[in-house]
Amino acid sequence: MSAASPAVDREAILAWYGERRRDLPWRRTRDPYRILVSEVMLQQTQVARVVPYYETFLARFPDEAALASAPAADVLRLWSGLGYNRRALALQAAARIVARDGWPRDVAGLRLLPGIGPYTAAAVASFAFGLEVAAVDTNVRRVIARLDRRERTPAQLEQRAAALLAPGRAADWNQAMMELGATVCGPRAPLCDACPAATCRSRGRPAVAASGRARGVGRTSVRIRFEDSDRFVRGRIVAALAAGEAVPDGFEPVRLERALAGLERDGLVVREGASVRLP
Ligand code: ADE
Repeated sequence: MSAASPAVDREAILAWYGERRRDLPWRRTRDPYRILVSEVMLQQTQVARVVPYYETFLARFPDEAALASAPAADVLRLWSGLGYNRRALALQAAARIVARDGWPRDVAGLRLLPGIGPYTAAAVASFAFGLEVAAVDTNVRRVIARLDRRERTPAQLEQRAAALLAPGRAADWNQAMMELGATVCGPRAPLCDACPAATCRSRGRPAVAASGRARGVGRTSVRIRFEDSDRFVRGRIVAALAAGEAVPDGFEPVRLERALAGLERDGLVVREGASVRLP
């Protein structure tokens, strides 16, 4: 064990996960399509919000062929309300590729699918195909930073996450690390008394890594109210069209036009003269 990388009791963490895991629908399947749908929905959205959308979406599009052949407007209708609607179109584009060519069986191949970054590729590879790869999202990054009580560059973190994997149990290990980050080792007030990681170097210490981000990569930004953002206007437009309504009025014309132009550029709406519809 190096000074910078303390031993971690994987068995204790896996046992904790076995007992305490939340029964989430995507944890009951190894179907790559169902796992991909969950991971794309979870990219920017919290678990509790995702669950009902996930179930409705899969009832309507039970496999990649069903999603591939659906009108984009139907896909957006079921996605509307989850936000970041571009994810839905990327997911459909991925489903079309997979329906035609079959599933890529490794991380590099999965990364080539639209909308799939390093985390999502590793998640599908381990949860669906049992590959021994570490899936590192924000939660896992924070957990590892706290366990070792040090910040790392992305490349170092990748290495450490791979070294931590429980051999032969990558899928459970990845889920366990995520579950720890989501339910015990949260960003602000970690519940150290409930944590199975006995050797954690941040255990019980008040000042723990806040985010797990490497120093210097955090963004400084001025917070704007969500209602004032383009994303809000875009979401409202797609939601209205998905509900069979007209483009909502009440927005400043310049904001509305900017949002519509952005939606059109992203393939989320089609404009014909003055009329606007889902694709
Ligand atoms: N967030 C991202 N992926 C997740 C998963 N598989 N389970 C719970 N939360 C997640």
